[in-house]
Amino acid sequence: MTILVTGGAGFIGSNFVLDWLASSDETVVNLDLLTYAGNLQNLEALTQDRRHVFVRGDICDRGMVDQLLARHTPRAVVHFAAESHVDRSIHGPGSFVHTNVVGTYTLLEATRHYWSTRSGTERDSFRFLHVSTDEVYGSLGPQDPAFTETRAYEPNSPYSASKAASDHLVRAWTHTYGLPALTTNCSNNYGPYQFPEKLIPLMIVNALSGKPLPVYGDGMQVRDWLYVGDHCSAVRAVLQRGRIGQTYNIGGWNEQPNIGVVRTICRLLDELKPDASGPRERLITYVTDRPGHDRRYAIDARKIERELGWRPSETFETGLRKTVRWYLENHAWLDAVQSGAYREWVQANYGARTAT
Ligand code: NAD
Ligand code: TYD
Repeated sequence: MTILVTGGAGFIGSNFVLDWLASSDETVVNLDLLTYAGNLQNLEALTQDRRHVFVRGDICDRGMVDQLLARHTPRAVVHFAAESHVDRSIHGPGSFVHTNVVGTYTLLEATRHYWSTRSGTERDSFRFLHVSTDEVYGSLGPQDPAFTETRAYEPNSPYSASKAASDHLVRAWTHTYGLPALTTNCSNNYGPYQFPEKLIPLMIVNALSGKPLPVYGDGMQVRDWLYVGDHCSAVRAVLQRGRIGQTYNIGGWNEQPNIGVVRTICRLLDELKPDASGPRERLITYVTDRPGHDRRYAIDARKIERELGWRPSETFETGLRKTVRWYLENHAWLDAVQSGAYREWVQANYGARTAT
């Protein structure tokens, strides 16, 4: 049997593909456009593995997606492909609408037509799993209860608005056409292979090279952090046992203010790779805030625990330690991703931010 994964060369998708093939012999067809965020080096361990079929292509290309589905006849589609970085969505929202909204629409339509040609148990057991974010719910006040699955959508950034739109399309395709789809809304992930423009890898990389650690605003924005391996196991659980048409929130029960995350990274690096110039906290620099910056996200993950028996297995302490070690041990990967295009992004995002 086969599953089709989209965005499987990105951060979470590549972790998912590696985890999947470590515990199953089912072939993965991996459809990824290899944008700046896609990186086949993440999947180097699978170079000789015939269970992994990589296809470079765009989820917006209907003809190609139709052909792929017809050729490989997957029993499920797991949809990770997206533009995923809030700061990039502020600089250029167009690609977010294109990939996240038009791309998800195109994938849904291709999948619907493919699924309608299946019969019997193949049709009944088929699943489309849409991977989304907690950011669709908007921002919480300090005392507000955590997001449940019934919370109204209030997306605030071009990124979260485009993901919210894609979630609505998935819901409508189930409601109207009966497509057996499920949606997951997960909190901030961290772990191996995360592109070093997101908070945790950026802080590790900058701290290692003695560069400033740019904390937006007052650093008291709160996020829930989940180790990527736990996200992957949650997605597998939803794919196996989730109820069609349902959404499942996934979180780490681990709210942290950004400045706390940055300080913990500094402490871990000081322990694992001491810097002769002194503690890394000296590099913390408060800079101009992100426009429209959401203050707090928090996930109530009781539904997935109650219905599917899933809970995260890493704590923030164990997950972050693993992550910092991974970045310390994978210089070649880091050097390769910090290419010319990466440096241009750093200039575009941080060049105009002043220290506050
Ligand atoms: P990422 O940016 O690291 O990877 C995205 C992948 O999608 C890349 O490999 C890229 O090449 C590919 N891609 C982009 N446009 C494409 C297109 N048009 N066609 C085919 N492939 C395309 O993202 P990530 O952090 O791995 O996130 C994966 C998914 O999980 C996204 O849908 C994101 O919204 C969601 N999510 C992410 C987080 C997080 O903390 N990173 C949290 C919750 C949900
Ligand atoms: P990020 O990793 O971009 O994820 P998201 O915006 O999807 O939550 O950012 C996580 C938090 O860290 C967010 O509140 C913004 C903040 N942040 C900084 O303070 N400095 C930075 O350089 C970056 C990239 C993020």
